[in-house]
Amino acid sequence: MGLIEHEADWGLVIAIDGPAGAGKSTVGRALAERLGLEYLDTGAMYRAMTFAAQQRGVTEGDLAAVAEMAPDVDIVVDGSRVLVDGVDATAEIRGRAVTAAVSQVAANPAVRAVLVDRQRAWVAERGGGVVEGRDIGTVVFPDARLKLYVTASPRVRAERRVGEIGGDVDEVEASIIERDRHDSSRAHSPLSEAADAIVVDTTGMTVDEVVDHVVGLLEAAR
Ligand code: DC
Repeated sequence: MGLIEHEADWGLVIAIDGPAGAGKSTVGRALAERLGLEYLDTGAMYRAMTFAAQQRGVTEGDLAAVAEMAPDVDIVVDGSRVLVDGVDATAEIRGRAVTAAVSQVAANPAVRAVLVDRQRAWVAERGGGVVEGRDIGTVVFPDARLKLYVTASPRVRAERRVGEIGGDVDEVEASIIERDRHDSSRAHSPLSEAADAIVVDTTGMTVDEVVDHVVGLLEAAR
């Protein structure tokens, strides 16, 4: 399918991929606001699926059981609020239990198939959006108008996370490196840069600087 048909189906899509803690969400939300688009955090959907498995007593690593459950889980991502089967799970999906297990659930191809369909439907309903994740420019919206690969050094990513939620920088850095390794080495839709993505290294940049830079890129792409 060509770019024009995709644009007709999905409108203006900006794909933001990159490793955990690189500033994708902050930049994505600010960019969406600046451009008058809605913002979708697809990581929240993988987290919601993980929470649902834990609520139902389904072992996260049990591929078949998680695959059977996935189509039935009702997930609503409404701005930064997330409802799972009608219950507000905004805080729980960011907690330790979900964070520790989400990579396993995200590596399940059946989960990915269900969520990719829902991500496309979400964008089709709104006629576009700023969509953030790991495989947005490579798999979900390969013809997105603008693809960004947002990154920063593991140390800086760890320092930012500790600034937000506390903890020990060395430990957080080690867990970030481990999660990157897992997300980049899985068989299905591993984290990787789309060939046509623009790399934005946010090390040493403020959010406003990054957003200004990206708006400039979008104008240049037009
Ligand atoms: O962005 P995050 O840390 O909330 O993402 C949670 C997990 O989901 C992380 O292990 C990567 C995975 N993920 C994914 O595999 N594909 C996406 N499009 C988004 C997130």
